Amino acid sequence: MADALKVGIAGLGTVGASLVRIIQNRANELATTCGRAIEITAVTARDRSRDRGIDISGITWFDTPERLAAEADIDVFVELIGGASGAAADSVKAALTRGLHVVTANKALLAASGVELARIAEEKSVLLNFEAAVAGGIPVIKALRESLTGNTVSRVYGIMNGTCNYILTRMEKEGLSFADCLKEAQRLGYAEADPAFDIEGNDTAHKLAILTTLAFGTQIAADEIYLEGITNISIEDIHAAADLGYRIKLLGVAQLTDSGIEQRVHPTMVPHDSVIAQVDGVTNAVAIESDILGELLMVGPGAGGDATASAVLGDIADIAKSSPGAQRVPVLGTPAASLAPYKRARMQSHEGGYFIRLTVADRTGVFASIAACMAENGISLESIMQRPKPDAATDTPKTIILVTHATTEDSVRKAVDAIKAENYLVGEPQVIRIERPKAF
Ligand SMILES: NC(=O)c1ccc[n+]([C@@H]2O[C@H](COP(=O)([O-])OP(=O)(O)OC[C@H]3O[C@@H](n4cnc5c(N)ncnc54)[C@H](OP(=O)(O)O)[C@@H]3O)[C@@H](O)[C@H]2O)c1
Repeated sequence: MADALKVGIAGLGTVGASLVRIIQNRANELATTCGRAIEITAVTARDRSRDRGIDISGITWFDTPERLAAEADIDVFVELIGGASGAAADSVKAALTRGLHVVTANKALLAASGVELARIAEEKSVLLNFEAAVAGGIPVIKALRESLTGNTVSRVYGIMNGTCNYILTRMEKEGLSFADCLKEAQRLGYAEADPAFDIEGNDTAHKLAILTTLAFGTQIAADEIYLEGITNISIEDIHAAADLGYRIKLLGVAQLTDSGIEQRVHPTMVPHDSVIAQVDGVTNAVAIESDILGELLMVGPGAGGDATASAVLGDIADIAKSSPGAQRVPVLGTPAASLAPYKRARMQSHEGGYFIRLTVADRTGVFASIAACMAENGISLESIMQRPKPDAATDTPKTIILVTHATTEDSVRKAVDAIKAENYLVGEPQVIRIERPKAF
């Protein structure tokens, strides 16, 4: 195995602390998938004495990010401080100039100085990775930079600010005013004490500027973006949009036109039945339209310590796998020799909801018998209905449809067998498993 990849982390706040915890807790898995260990050897933040809920006792502490970047014994400098200038900008520049790989989640820095930083990285033949800077955990940078190679992109757009999407969703679902929803977002920690940067669209604009460059191969032009935030959206607008079959989302859109590139961030009406219209709360979504692939839509967590750290870790792992002496990306994700033996879970222990359709003879007591068979097997029902309606002509077989709460395959099979034994079924029962997405 190649030597450990030595990582220095500047910034131990929401994202930095999550990253330290994940790297420490998953050391063995990371070493296996990356072909070398990932070791945090240096850290820095403003306040050394602050309890961050992580163990940094064996890690060298540096008093400033600039000193860490210049002096630490590291291969990768991870910047999780934030801000377009100051410590974040100075330390990233110092690290690249020193010939270190850099990983950052800092959209403000990239929107302001991305081209300059890219130039230094290329001159020094090091990587500058920034997956977490746009749409948090959604791997949109990798999609544009690597997966869509050869495609000509015509449009990129998306919901890239969780605060705005949370406010618009609450306004629509609960009929609350913009001001009330903003207060609630602040109470829940979804919005900053000074929310202007989010609600006026600047945060989305920074992310859009980065996507535009990746999509169209042009200079980063964050100052050229048409910008409108959501502060003027009223509940009347939301109701009127709903009446017309639309929902209002704050979108960032970058589009190739005959006269140049259109970059805009503004409240946008999206058709109610489109997938992007269904993206609610703090969730993000990014769509990419390109000539070979067609349309790609990625939906996922756009913020939060762990989701963002997940993207940062992916960037670090890419560096580990691409360094000289390291093994390249394993063909199957894990090196073939380290793949664990497959262990099959019994289908009978599968847990989930079930749709069960029964055709039954029209007899009294059938409904009660079915309910009893379910209860005896510990199955709780979400709904039970009869088709046609109970008052339809008698003596014809009736259809009874059951939808269960989460239960096991074993219980459902036993319940269905018990129902079959009652001799009122006409034909075979139909059982269809329900798969419920967690978030969307
Ligand atoms: N949070 C998210 O969900 C999210 C999502 C996507 C991208 N990001 C990006 O990730 C980066 C970090 O965000 P975050 O939410 O983790 O921020 P945060 O919680 O405010 O943490 C910032 C960290 O930087 C340290 N810091 C600030 N100024 C410093 C200085 N001059 N010298 C040394 N350390 C300094 C702070 O030190 P102290 O702890 O000692 O104060 C803190 O540990 C930002 O670029 C942000 O835009 C965040």
